[in-house]
Amino acid sequence: MRIDIITVLPEILESPLNNSILKRAQDRHLVEICIHNLRDYSSDKKHRHVDDYPFGGSAGMVMQCEPIDRAITHLKNQRSYDEVIFTTPDGERFSQPLANELSLCENLIILCGHYKGIDHRIREHLITREISIGDYVLTGGELAAVVMADAIIRLLPGVISDEQSALFDSFQDHLLAPPVYTRPADYKGWKVPEILLSGHEAKIREWELQQSIERTKRLRPDLLED
Ligand code: ADE
Repeated sequence: MRIDIITVLPEILESPLNNSILKRAQDRHLVEICIHNLRDYSSDKKHRHVDDYPFGGSAGMVMQCEPIDRAITHLKNQRSYDEVIFTTPDGERFSQPLANELSLCENLIILCGHYKGIDHRIREHLITREISIGDYVLTGGELAAVVMADAIIRLLPGVISDEQSALFDSFQDHLLAPPVYTRPADYKGWKVPEILLSGHEAKIREWELQQSIERTKRLRPDLLED
């Protein structure tokens, strides 16, 4: 898989995408992440500006058509893309099923929104998918792009060492994950549930399922409604 991210703030993306599991995934060529500075596509060679005042006189700046069009066209001339995603609080809600779906794609473009928004003609003509990571407004789409890229990449085969583990994540089966514990079995009198020390595999799996169901009912009953 290849993910191209277009942004005016590449620095925000560099660290989270180039550490730990995501770095290893790139080193092992399981995913290629390419970050593009939108300013490189500005026709204003001096100030490299990519935004302008909105028609109609309202407040804030709007990202212009031309640099975005040039960046996306440049990428599309090199390969075909499954989706051109725009990060925006008024998009469809990002979720585990959507991460699963996008993890099956070959090539993705993610355009990070900024300022007051982007010229709507880009959304009409170039964007194939508008995605929000939640009902709150961030200062820009970079953190949303990182969240999406992380959730997608960890699903790619071989990225997580125990491939099975992504299948048992919270949300994959509409249930939250059960609690986990490690040594020592007794810390300051805080004890690990006996069952986990019993060595009885079938009973442990049954206990974990019960815990998942109980936690989901208590913390996220909406997940069970589906
Ligand atoms: N940009 C600003 N807020 C956002 C959000 N909640 N999701 C995606 N992109 C955003």
